[in-house]
Amino acid sequence: MNILGISAHYHDSAAALVVDGVPVCAVQEERLSRRKNDASFPLAAIEWCLDRGGLETTDLDAVVFYERSMLKFERILTCALRAFPRSWKTFPHAIKNSLGEKVWVRGIISSHLGVPRRKILFTDHHASHAAAAFLTAPTRRAAILTADGVGEWATLTVGHGERHTNGATDITLQREIRFPHSLGMLYSTFTAYLGFAVNEDEYKVMGLAAYGRPTMSDQVRKLVHRTPDGAFTLAPEYFEYQTTAGRSYSSRFIDLFGRPRHAYEPIDLETEDGRRFADCAASVQHVLEDTLVDITRALHRGTGLPDLCFGGGVALNGVANARILAESGFERVFVPSAPGDAGCAMGAALYADRMYFKNPDREVPDHPFWGPTVDAGELARVAREDGQNVEELDDHALIERVADELAAGRIVGWMDGASEFGPRALGHRSILAAPHSRDVRDRLNRDIKYREDFRPFAPVTTVDDLDRYFEVPAGGVRLTRFMSAVFPVRPEWRERLAAVTHVDGSARVQALDRDMAPRLHALLGAYERRSGMPVLLNTSFNVAGEPIVNRVLEGYSTFRRCGIDVLVAGATVVTKRLASSRPLTEDVA
Ligand SMILES: [Fe+2]
Repeated sequence: MNILGISAHYHDSAAALVVDGVPVCAVQEERLSRRKNDASFPLAAIEWCLDRGGLETTDLDAVVFYERSMLKFERILTCALRAFPRSWKTFPHAIKNSLGEKVWVRGIISSHLGVPRRKILFTDHHASHAAAAFLTAPTRRAAILTADGVGEWATLTVGHGERHTNGATDITLQREIRFPHSLGMLYSTFTAYLGFAVNEDEYKVMGLAAYGRPTMSDQVRKLVHRTPDGAFTLAPEYFEYQTTAGRSYSSRFIDLFGRPRHAYEPIDLETEDGRRFADCAASVQHVLEDTLVDITRALHRGTGLPDLCFGGGVALNGVANARILAESGFERVFVPSAPGDAGCAMGAALYADRMYFKNPDREVPDHPFWGPTVDAGELARVAREDGQNVEELDDHALIERVADELAAGRIVGWMDGASEFGPRALGHRSILAAPHSRDVRDRLNRDIKYREDFRPFAPVTTVDDLDRYFEVPAGGVRLTRFMSAVFPVRPEWRERLAAVTHVDGSARVQALDRDMAPRLHALLGAYERRSGMPVLLNTSFNVAGEPIVNRVLEGYSTFRRCGIDVLVAGATVVTKRLASSRPLTEDVA
């Protein structure tokens, strides 16, 4: 049975193909269209998925959309009417937006793909998140938590899933919290208040939080009222997102927290305002964590299960995930590589397969590499035509060669196999560098990523070496598989890992299993033979404002435009002429 899953029209459109119960491929539209957070109907992603699966649209048994668009429209309409006359200005905008394409999804899918309307199915948005988290995790029974900004009405759900021995699957979401009460919207409101882009820069708030103290937690708690049953409500007088499409926070919010930050205003921690912004970030982060810990504790008590599967955009908050693991009572926490709305494309397809068609349970391969693969031959051809130094090496020679470059302080663009599904570079579309020196970190920020100084870079190491350098509690290894949690760097290594240690001594570490990315695993070993440490800096292969590179040509173009010294794709190594690298200011060994 061939099922195509689609997410679209909000942010991070994507398509995924599931054949006979097993994912074949998945890709976000942005990786193909090259428009970051592309929300348009993912025609390119669909076309690529069908091509990859060797299918025509007539071969599809079902096309599953990741949410119920009519219900979502009902929510938008209801909120606009409730807020009338305050909403009168935005009402036409909301209606136009919804009527334009979002509501009539069945017709759009049918006309674009030529699929009969009866083959087009819809899942609840949070059921898609739940399926993406539970059905891709190597566990048979687990509690499930989903949390995001909003789907149709739900913003957070709790429940459980079970894959029975007879092949049947159950996913039951027992309780939900509904819009406008939303942890995702709370966090996004602070994201907007702090001058960052909503639905995109939430991780910057988390990064900034490490520079502040949660001195304004009591003020944030005025916004978030806890209810006796363990849930919460938001105090509506501090928010405007439920009534307008403009500003998400109200003037009372400003009375409580002070002047908002302008997007282009530098965050200078030497100034009172700079410290206030950092403290604001730390405070909302703290309250978010406390709330999630309480909800997951209750969920653990209620289910008695050792495993938790966590989906939805809020599951990208790695600091909160580490606290959930430490304090909720769950022994293991599973977060998929794409917990956000893009991942719902795969979640919706899997949900339809198991729950609607009642197909038997199938093992889902436990890796994030579902996208297009690189063509190393194409890189060699293009780079030669462009007059660059090109070498084509066997695997052993290539690994040794790249390890030499890294040990000499050079920055490497690393493309290998199929691209990651989800926002993290997990070893197939990465920029790699030595993790030891602040000099390397500053070069990356200045010459390659063009980004704020307060944002940390992440380390990658092997599963076997994780414990030596990082304080990861029992059960935490799972969260490091897809870089889903932030853990302390052991104090004795922080100086040697200066480029990947955040200001609070933490790191969003990836622990690599050899089977998941064997070449990067081998590179870590080769780097250890030179530096004594199997640890590298691993950041996504893109420059600010662009999606992660996908195909070889995008990698090559990025390599040519910024300060990356060496580009690797498959067996091909390209070294930049007039290399911009400088020796490290400290000995890496
Ligand atoms: Fe969502």
